[in-house]
Amino acid sequence: MTDTIQVPWTEPLQGLPLTQPTHESWTQIAIGDLDALLADHAHCEQKAASMALSLIARYPENTDRTKKLMALAAEEMHHFKQVLEKIEARGRVLTKPLPDAYVKQLREWSFRHVGGVGTKTDTFLACGFVEARSCERFRLLAQALLGQSDQELQKLGAFYRNLADAESRHWESFRDFALEEQTPARVQKRMTDMAEAEAAIIRDLPIEPRMH
Ligand SMILES: [Fe+2]
Ligand SMILES: [Fe+2]
Repeated sequence: MTDTIQVPWTEPLQGLPLTQPTHESWTQIAIGDLDALLADHAHCEQKAASMALSLIARYPENTDRTKKLMALAAEEMHHFKQVLEKIEARGRVLTKPLPDAYVKQLREWSFRHVGGVGTKTDTFLACGFVEARSCERFRLLAQALLGQSDQELQKLGAFYRNLADAESRHWESFRDFALEEQTPARVQKRMTDMAEAEAAIIRDLPIEPRMH
């Protein structure tokens, strides 16, 4: 029985750098249009893989980090395959990606508000925040879907619970990459400022069946 599965966190923002919870209406809106949600989610996974590969090309000097980014890219592509199979099972095809205002605005904030940590550290932190927001939303989806009576929705809930654990790990990896570049105090200060900016972005974006 999948409805006996316990979620391994006590609240959706636990362990994440985020300060602004997702609007309470988002989960039902997302579950109300699973086709749109899954299409957006699939593109998030392939973009995460592409980003990890592009970071290898931009910052190749740290072999240990390169290996971690290779593993991350492979894991994101596996997630992409899994989401694509869910779309296929619903008799749908993947639609083209929509513009990603969330990621665009987060990057623009970094460019406008230089925090003294350098572009490389800032890029790792911005990637980490994207992972963290995905983690929170996967947790919300898992909580809501695991409580449904429909078995297919329960299965999707278990899928999102597993993905939430992966995104939580990915957030920690990017934070650790930042900590390899800068002192803990500077990273912490930048995380605090980025959390405030991210909160404003997420508050202003429309509430849609999308991951961000
Ligand atoms: Fe992923
Ligand atoms: Fe991820």
